[in-house]
Amino acid sequence: MRGKTLVISGGTRGIGKAIVYEFAANGVNIAFTYNSNEQLAQEQVKDLESNYGIKARAYNLNILEPETYKELFLQIDKDFDRVDFFISNAIISGRSVVGGYTKFMKLKPRGINNIFTATVNAFVIGAQEAAKRMEKIGGGSIISISSTGNLVYIENYAGHGTCKAAVEAMVRYAATELGEKNIRVNAVSGGPIDTDALRAFTNYEEVRDKTAELSPLGRMGQPSDLSGACLFLCSDKASWITGHTFIIDGGTTFK
Ligand SMILES: NC(=O)c1ccc[n+]([C@@H]2O[C@H](COP(=O)([O-])OP(=O)(O)OC[C@H]3O[C@@H](n4cnc5c(N)ncnc54)[C@H](OP(=O)(O)O)[C@@H]3O)[C@@H](O)[C@H]2O)c1
Repeated sequence: MRGKTLVISGGTRGIGKAIVYEFAANGVNIAFTYNSNEQLAQEQVKDLESNYGIKARAYNLNILEPETYKELFLQIDKDFDRVDFFISNAIISGRSVVGGYTKFMKLKPRGINNIFTATVNAFVIGAQEAAKRMEKIGGGSIISISSTGNLVYIENYAGHGTCKAAVEAMVRYAATELGEKNIRVNAVSGGPIDTDALRAFTNYEEVRDKTAELSPLGRMGQPSDLSGACLFLCSDKASWITGHTFIIDGGTTFK
């Protein structure tokens, strides 16, 4: 993996941050995005470069404006000579999910559309730009981070769960059409993982306790539980895996 480059959205917190550190520890150069916290992002760049001996750069991105991925990748072209891996990880929260993160009878087109834009459109535009670069170096691996909230009921999650189902379908289409370029495309779908996004859930404590109860492993997920799967899917060990959703749920979905 050493000398290859990962582009990942939302690399400053939660699952994205765990993926950034997992890849950096394996010698991968990192181009990650942040949205609100530039200082944190720049401190992370310094930390990654001094502790792992890799090249790291942080870029501002708003996934509610997916077309800006085009400009972002032009900046990345100036800083990195190749793009091997792209992970669409960032998720919106707060005001932009009003009418999307709620009960079915309170859903509003605007909230659902915002989540769709941030989940599906952002994946599509980011993956298109990444694939153009991967084609030039003979292939690559693309991942969308999904959620088991499209398979099992999570309170207030109708908007997100529906968009995660959509992005998993989009992953299969992308995989089918990009295979001839030796680009593999998969989704990594997590059960409840202890991050800021989950702590913002109105029923966080209930979800945490219920997950630990449902999991044969007796605990909820941690960000590092997903990052290893991403590293595997980007490695040569996963060379014939494409068009799939890798479910990492601590055994909770079956129960
Ligand atoms: N947590 C779970 O239980 C869980 C389970 C399964 C799947 N997932 C999925 O895993 C992914 C990461 O979730 P997480 O829980 O790690 O989230 P998180 O801890 O809330 O982190 C969100 C990341 O996205 C960035 N971000 C926020 N708003 C953005 C915007 N408008 N444009 C671009 N970037 C933005 C944040 O950057 P700033 O800090 O700079 O704002 C941050 O780096 C999401 O796709 C989520 O659906 C989460």
